[in-house]
Amino acid sequence: MTQENNRWSKKYPELGEGPIPVEPYVSEEIYDQEVEKIFKKTWLKVGRDDELPKPGDYKVKKIGFAKTSIIMIRGKDGRVRGFHNVCSHRGNKVIVETGEETFGGRKSALMTCRFHGWVYDAEGQIVNLPEEEKFSPCFEKEENGLTPVHIDVWEGFIFINLDPGEVTPLKEYLGELGDHMSGFPYDKLTKGYRYYTYLDCNWKVAHDAFAEAYHVETIHAGSFPNIFSTGLQNVQLLGDHRATAVCMNIDGGETPVAKIATAKSRSSLVKRAESSMLPPGINPDKREDFGFELSVIFPNLLLHVSEGIWFLHQFWPLANNQTLWEGQYFVKEPETNSERWAQESAIVLQRNAWLEDTATMEATQIALESGAKKFMHLQDDEILIRHGFHVVEKYLEL
Ligand code: FES
Ligand SMILES: [Fe+2]
Repeated sequence: MTQENNRWSKKYPELGEGPIPVEPYVSEEIYDQEVEKIFKKTWLKVGRDDELPKPGDYKVKKIGFAKTSIIMIRGKDGRVRGFHNVCSHRGNKVIVETGEETFGGRKSALMTCRFHGWVYDAEGQIVNLPEEEKFSPCFEKEENGLTPVHIDVWEGFIFINLDPGEVTPLKEYLGELGDHMSGFPYDKLTKGYRYYTYLDCNWKVAHDAFAEAYHVETIHAGSFPNIFSTGLQNVQLLGDHRATAVCMNIDGGETPVAKIATAKSRSSLVKRAESSMLPPGINPDKREDFGFELSVIFPNLLLHVSEGIWFLHQFWPLANNQTLWEGQYFVKEPETNSERWAQESAIVLQRNAWLEDTATMEATQIALESGAKKFMHLQDDEILIRHGFHVVEKYLEL
């Protein structure tokens, strides 16, 4: 099929076609502004509802750019609430953290700070305070609970917003992109694999590397030889968010092992579907070569759905040139040994591809920091990167 070479810039002429500056990828000042004006103001995915199945279950997630960590805890009323993990007494962490994410739970749904034993309930209220009588009569227990954060759930994804003021409700924030990606059986495909690493690159270098398919012929020549097409289909820029379909080369270069895995299981990424579990707005023209839908939930989440699979990438800024990357991949629980093998095969392939993706990022950052180039040049199928650049500029009021 022949296609126009500049169809996305024709569809979205307001984004322009010129080069985009390197400075936002290397500047410490712009990074600081991004933290203040974007990451501390927007909704950020921090977990899944099913990570906290019972009242009293909690998850603590470090939020490096904000120098905090957030407790999500399910109360006896079934609601998940969010708080800064900072004790109201003298600031100790209420829950001891063991890494980027810490999980736990107590039937009582109470949290006790180990320093002096202040006890909080799942609504953040102080319910016990040793030697309470020694505190000043001016000290109001009721007004000194844990500091709450905005928290909401969409399609089972828990989001927080660190803005202490009024915020746009999550559903409204996600807007049309939320509708576009709703209705997929995320909660049925629960067998998950997670990888994460710290990369010495700007968060946008990481975002950009996953937001185009131009690189698949070169970077993924090893793991996905001739399998995906480099162009995008059905690009939709939806407010601050964006989505596209990534398609496959019919009868492409699947390896013999991948072919067998495909035959055994719906879980392999290189699998064409007989019936669809995709929401109606995804692959609306029922393209036979549809591979997966790639969506970007601004600012830092890439959420993908495919037949039998969903996966995501998330980029947590730590400095102008440091990012925590998380990759997660979900399929259904295998029912047979051959399904289990087929899933493992697909996942190993995916892991290899992600290693290929992340392998460019640190070198790109160093090269950009050299100052040799002031601009980068995007082709038409790198429209998601161009859109991302404009959305960041809008938030920074540049
Ligand atoms: S710092 Fe938490 S009880 Fe003292
Ligand atoms: Fe890739």
